[in-house]
Amino acid sequence: MKKLASIVLAGCMAVSLAACGGAASSSAPASSSEAVSAAESAAESAAESVEAPQGGKVGVCIYKFDDAFMTTYRNALQEILEGKGYEVTIVDGNNDQAKQNEQINTFITQGVDALIINPVMTSAADQIISTVKDADIPTVLINREPTADQMSAYNKLVYVGCDAAQSGTFQGELILDTANKGDINGDGKVSYIMIQGDPENIDAQLRTEYSVKALKDAGVEVEQLDLQRGDWDRNKGQEIAQNDLAKYGNQIEVVFCNNDDMAIGALQAIEAAGRKVNEDIYLVGVDALDAALNEVANGKMTGTVLNDANGQASQAVACMEELLGGKTFEAGSQSVYVDYVKVTPENVKDFQ
Ligand code: GAL
Repeated sequence: MKKLASIVLAGCMAVSLAACGGAASSSAPASSSEAVSAAESAAESAAESVEAPQGGKVGVCIYKFDDAFMTTYRNALQEILEGKGYEVTIVDGNNDQAKQNEQINTFITQGVDALIINPVMTSAADQIISTVKDADIPTVLINREPTADQMSAYNKLVYVGCDAAQSGTFQGELILDTANKGDINGDGKVSYIMIQGDPENIDAQLRTEYSVKALKDAGVEVEQLDLQRGDWDRNKGQEIAQNDLAKYGNQIEVVFCNNDDMAIGALQAIEAAGRKVNEDIYLVGVDALDAALNEVANGKMTGTVLNDANGQASQAVACMEELLGGKTFEAGSQSVYVDYVKVTPENVKDFQ
């Protein structure tokens, strides 16, 4: 990657300093200029902040390896950590929380210096936090956000992720930016299907809510034809879209997918049904996987939203180093967000 991606990455690193090196912030900056000024003030205070020792053992727990976005994310983590000289072990939770709990315990027994954990279940946060607290291991949680209250139990804990509502809003805006604002058949309402990720996950909940909210807030009437869980999975996305296209046919004007992998699956079903994206149906995802970027460039996806794996991985490592350097985080200042970016046919080249 890629020109803009590195600019975005630089921005994220800046936010990382703001959040982890200086005045910790629990919310994403509202604008890039705010991010820049936060970064500037953080850069000043970074000089005073603790020196992060490099090297040491890091255990990384991923909820499951068989997830397209988390694969990009985990590869980025590995590259950054190894590049900094850490001894890194990354384990696959196989989407099984009991298995991940054991993996965390094993890492603790092995004496890791820090943990980076992508929980299998958001609902397991209390258990995970109490385990790492008892063992006194600096920990960065990623991708599945616990509540501020849960995190406040342990001050050597940070969450790094994105503001999921923002990605939903951007998806809605991608539809609002089309020539007919999503109302292809001109009947005064946008009829859509929603292919959801894992509904236990806040990303799935907020993307589902805010994508549609953006349309409603713009005064557009909406009609939900179907909402089904696709668990972030390409094959499930394909099956759901195939069934809905058979059932609702031309009534479907918009296919909202909570992530790109499901959108790629939905695209297969859309093409098999003889429909044409951007002509008689719209399709949006989130993540900016390489495959989705190609489809946006080819006009086969209306758009996607960059879920910045590299930026989040850099941020997670920066926060981990702050923790290793002895910094603690106050309640209410333990969440660190990286911005999403809207990807359209106009700017897609910048991400490829
Ligand atoms: C989301 C991402 C999905 C999936 C999920 C796993 O942020 O968009 O593709 O990876 O995380 O929790």
